[in-house]
Amino acid sequence: MSIKRKAIRYFDLFAGIGGFKVAADKLNTESFEMEHVAYCEIDPQARALYTKVHGTKSQIITDAKLIRTHKNESGELVEEFDLLFGGFPCQSFSNVGYRKGFDDERGQLFFTILDILDYYQPKYFVLENVQKLSTINKGNLLAEMKEALGDIGSGYNLHIWDLLASDYGLPQKRKRIFFCGIRKDISPELKLSQPPIVDLTQSRYPTTWHLLEKDSVNEKHFIPTKTRKTVLFKNPKWAGDVNIDNPIARPLTASMSKWHRANQDNYFSHTYINSSLPLQRPIVDLDKEPIRRITPLEGFRIQGFPDHFANSANEIGLAFSTQYRLIGNAVPVDLAWNVLKHFLNSYHESNK
Ligand SMILES: C[S@@+](CC[C@H](N)C(=O)[O-])C[C@H]1O[C@@H](n2cnc3c(N)ncnc32)[C@H](O)[C@@H]1O
Repeated sequence: MSIKRKAIRYFDLFAGIGGFKVAADKLNTESFEMEHVAYCEIDPQARALYTKVHGTKSQIITDAKLIRTHKNESGELVEEFDLLFGGFPCQSFSNVGYRKGFDDERGQLFFTILDILDYYQPKYFVLENVQKLSTINKGNLLAEMKEALGDIGSGYNLHIWDLLASDYGLPQKRKRIFFCGIRKDISPELKLSQPPIVDLTQSRYPTTWHLLEKDSVNEKHFIPTKTRKTVLFKNPKWAGDVNIDNPIARPLTASMSKWHRANQDNYFSHTYINSSLPLQRPIVDLDKEPIRRITPLEGFRIQGFPDHFANSANEIGLAFSTQYRLIGNAVPVDLAWNVLKHFLNSYHESNK
């Protein structure tokens, strides 16, 4: 069977604020007609922003565990779809979590994905998680996942890529692992290397400096006086630098509204923001210099979301802490877009 250029209906599972949807919308204009049929998200604030920005009339499911599968025959049936997206909850796998892998409650959601694939047998899936997943239990967890995803239903050909957001057009050192599967009966497996790397200097925001708000921003974004010593000054016992003004951002975290040490989060000085040398870290007086975290608008930009996400988040009254959490949990849009484009185009080309 060949893959013709036609609508690809997709189900956005663990949808968050829809990083995969923005990526699919971008692809829509280029090669495929991407049709959103449903999304599933448990967090009401994420759902509120998703609905506001995407304005979708598609099916909404409020918990993955409510979805009809062989193990849950009375569950809610998802409308017919060809492609499953799933940036599944990663706390259980990340290096800041307990790294228990499958034993953790949130890790169990991987089995929910398997149940969904088994029941609906979509043609494709694209799943995403933290790259650290590949080191859990000396790589055995990844090996088990690979086997399970390859065997589920009538079987999938699988491509697994460890990728860095800054290689795909965004100024952020965010590492992610992608699992792209295509049903074995649709196409023989292709030998696919990772998506071609993009020249960051040609991207919309080659550095953080290019996306930093140059006008005055809310006072709340400046490091409070009483916290400055903890955040900005390095205890000689700690490893790592206290670097602020990074042209390529550290990975955004869901808890970035809290004041973490300056080797964990992204802080910028007045001097850097107002300089004309994006690649040069200025010498600043850490005692006196006004220094701030990124604003939610800048966070959306670092993750590849359009600016209207920030306006919409404010319009529906999401607190800054909520906005940071949603941003920090999202898949980097340009990274997802490059993965999707490479994966679908490669199989489409091979089946012409
Ligand atoms: C890593 S985030 C994915 C974010 C998404 N890719 C985006 O671009 O915003 C995982 C999401 O799964 C959601 N989630 C966790 N448990 C869930 C469940 N049982 N059913 C549906 N969604 C769930 C979380 O609220 C979170 O938004």
